[in-house]
Amino acid sequence: MTTPRQRYRRGRLAAAFGGLAAATLAVTLAVPAAAAASTLQAAAAESGRYFGTAIAASRLNDGTYTTIANREFNMITAENEMKMDAMQPSRGQFNWSSGDRIVNWARQNGKQVRGHALAWHSQQPGWMQNMSGSQLRTAMLDHVTQVASYYRGKIYAWDVVNEAFADGSSGARRDSNLQRTGNDWIEAAFRAARAADPGAKLCYNDYNTDNWQHAKTQAVYNMVKDFKARGVPIDCVGFQAHFNSGNPVPSNYHTTLQNFADLGVDVQITELDIEGSGSSQAQQYQGVVQACLSVARCTGITVWGVRDTDSWRASGTPLLFDGSGNKKAAYTSVLNQLNQGGTPVPNPGNPTQPGTTPTPTPTQNPGTGSCTATYSEGQKWNDRFNGTVTIRANTAISGWSSTVTVRQPQRIIATWNGSPTWDSSGNVMTMRPSGSGALAAGQTVSFGFTVQHNGDWTWPTLTCSAS
Ligand code: XIL
Repeated sequence: MTTPRQRYRRGRLAAAFGGLAAATLAVTLAVPAAAAASTLQAAAAESGRYFGTAIAASRLNDGTYTTIANREFNMITAENEMKMDAMQPSRGQFNWSSGDRIVNWARQNGKQVRGHALAWHSQQPGWMQNMSGSQLRTAMLDHVTQVASYYRGKIYAWDVVNEAFADGSSGARRDSNLQRTGNDWIEAAFRAARAADPGAKLCYNDYNTDNWQHAKTQAVYNMVKDFKARGVPIDCVGFQAHFNSGNPVPSNYHTTLQNFADLGVDVQITELDIEGSGSSQAQQYQGVVQACLSVARCTGITVWGVRDTDSWRASGTPLLFDGSGNKKAAYTSVLNQLNQGGTPVPNPGNPTQPGTTPTPTPTQNPGTGSCTATYSEGQKWNDRFNGTVTIRANTAISGWSSTVTVRQPQRIIATWNGSPTWDSSGNVMTMRPSGSGALAAGQTVSFGFTVQHNGDWTWPTLTCSAS
């Protein structure tokens, strides 16, 4: 079997070397078809998927940790820093600092972010734990709105609700203060999240939902089916995938992922770790990766930490790197399996013609005032590209604003060097200076952004308006 990418490479090489002798051509072709990516993120990207990790803000000054994280992963989840207790330690007082450290680190390194988690029975701040009824419902919805609004435009997918179902054979909701506010608390949270950040995918996330036969799996499936039927905004289901000998990777994992995907949602493996060691651990990791790769709408895999010693279950050595940062057998099996390729993720996915030049659209706009906005291309990846807008003051100005419009199905997923606001469609971002916008005649200033292109490489259109 060849992946589409391998077929593409062969075609291109055949064209490039078409003038050479047939014998030379045959030798040349054998090599790149077998070429394999050497990092998890690059190997996953071959089929349009991401490969992520949980990051702890406290470890961001550990060079071994950040070197591995930066090299191997392109999707970042805050392990604890964006949970309810971290975000809103006192009622109405939000603390963005630790969450921002992780989000900024991710964006500065060209990575996307999974937001985790807006509403959960666990890791609630003390003030919320003591609430109930309509007061709690209002506080929960306010939290969802404030946090999702604050991070608007920076989050690939939010775990809107985490772990709302009970374990065991009941198939019931988990009892919690949130559940006691009424059975519709989950859909209320999803609606609030959609209103606050229309560009983020909205996920339901849980554990013990891997085995298709289990009552909990069926219960979550039925909720998602009902949400889709009634138009509750849900885009994805996260499978935490914390495995150990008592809770092994089920043999029907592929069936579970496929059945959820068939409801019309993406599926993602969100917190993967598997206790164990050696070849047995490696084989189980391989099985999980294989299951995801065989489901078109399984868009990515996140492991719950970098090294075994970083894990919340460190004694079970459940991750891909040992405490010294060495690659384990499990790492190699995951990388090899990713390099086998998989069912391509349809959309977002690979550009059909890697390396094609984006369609040029007008890059300058005289604007309403005396400034000009000019677009320049930045780095391009499989699923996204960076752009820079340079604002030039034609005469002395005291301030400016610039709109960047991307067309569906593109989405701006990150910005830097300015303060963005968004229109309700999520397609138009207005950037204003973070500090003073005063510029002397001829002076320039730049801001940047990342566009998830979903197969459309068209450049954004710009305006500039000076004051
Ligand atoms: C865990 C963190 O890894 C720990 O550091 C913390 O003490 C407890 O939470 N399900 C989830 C994650 O959704 O947020 C949990 O993370 C692991 C289980």
